[in-house]
Amino acid sequence: MSRFDVAVIGGGAAGMLCAAMAGQRGRRVVLLEHTRSPGEKIRISGGGRCNFTNLHTQPENFLSNNPHFCRSALAGYTPHDFVDLMRRHGIAFHEKHRGQLFCDDSAAQIIDMLRAECELGQVVWRVGCSVAAVRCEGAAYVLDTSQGPLTAGALVVATGGLSIPRIGASDLGYRLARQFGLRVIEPRPGLVPLVFDPEAWRPFAKLAGVSVQANLVGQGVFGSAAFHEDLLFTHRGLSGPAALQISSYWQPGQSLSIDLAPGIDWAAVIKGKGALRATAASLLAGTLPKRLAEHCVQTAMPGAGLTRAVADLSDKALHALAITVSEWRTTPTGTEGFRKAEVTVGGVDTNALSSRTMEARAVRGLYFIGEVVDVTGWLGGYNFQWAWASAAACARAI
Ligand code: FDA
Repeated sequence: MSRFDVAVIGGGAAGMLCAAMAGQRGRRVVLLEHTRSPGEKIRISGGGRCNFTNLHTQPENFLSNNPHFCRSALAGYTPHDFVDLMRRHGIAFHEKHRGQLFCDDSAAQIIDMLRAECELGQVVWRVGCSVAAVRCEGAAYVLDTSQGPLTAGALVVATGGLSIPRIGASDLGYRLARQFGLRVIEPRPGLVPLVFDPEAWRPFAKLAGVSVQANLVGQGVFGSAAFHEDLLFTHRGLSGPAALQISSYWQPGQSLSIDLAPGIDWAAVIKGKGALRATAASLLAGTLPKRLAEHCVQTAMPGAGLTRAVADLSDKALHALAITVSEWRTTPTGTEGFRKAEVTVGGVDTNALSSRTMEARAVRGLYFIGEVVDVTGWLGGYNFQWAWASAAACARAI
């Protein structure tokens, strides 16, 4: 039987960094990955360039039933620590938007970097290796794998969430948590497009492809949330950063409040309407894409709205337009599910884990890191930062 100090299950972002750091601290580490291509989510992330961190990372950018849990790990391994690692490997990157860092060339460089770090730590890889069962024998964990049994003094579960099953997601992490008596907060898709009843959505479906900077406000299990980002109309509902962000908070049955044109001062428009010879559609078209502007006018003022000058419209009609554009309330019927979700909200209950080391409080030597834990970041590099930070916290303790 092969013997190791540490077995890490899951060769993704968190698992690779943790294995490398633990190996470089002198631990004998085996890293088990059931697919043939470790780090696949890194490869497909950020349009192939991986938004690998966010310089403005704060605990407030994460959702969890235990919002303070992420503080210690995030403080112990910051975006600058990962940037230093990238610099040591000569990987060029740039800031795209609001602190989001992307590779200049390819996300594959990050996978190569993590593999090189694993090599420095003499990590033993078991790729294409599935884990059939885990049990405790004395102080050791015994893993029955498709490549034979092995034992380890510590077990790190880094199996990620349930999103994008076709590239390797599995529920093993949640099953192991339950096996060892840890609670799992019901996993659900996050950072995912929202869908609507097809009949109710029919008038909007023709807007598919239209994108606008909007304010979205939603209520959910974590309280209310508001985002000012791009919103994209699709054939089935809403996508784009604004919808993805709010989806992590959204609960079935809850409505969203959307301001499609946060820049418009409707009180001033109504007050000064006498001087406005333009049509309402062309007035809106200064702020909204033309197709969306026309849709809003036709919805608020069916009939003559498209051709009449603003000056000739009643205050009541303009109020109706203001509500259509800036106070749109709508209720999604669901999401596109794990098939399209970027992350999984929920996971291993953090109350059962040490926030300093990620070790299960009641099970010595059992650790959970990365997305399998009930800590979910906003869109914008925060999820990888959580993967790195939780991996580092664990590796330093192990
Ligand atoms: P991750 O999912 O990376 O790794 C888990 C690993 O465990 C996988 O390799 C999997 O195959 C393996 N595994 C699962 N079950 C197993 C089993 N039973 N046995 C052995 N191995 C098993 N985040 C961000 O910050 N910036 C971004 O740009 C993006 N972009 C993005 C795009 C898309 C399309 C997706 C789906 C996701 C993102 N994300 C993101 C989210 C980010 O990819 C995610 O949060 C991290 O990869 C999580 O890292 P983990 O290591 O926890 O899981």
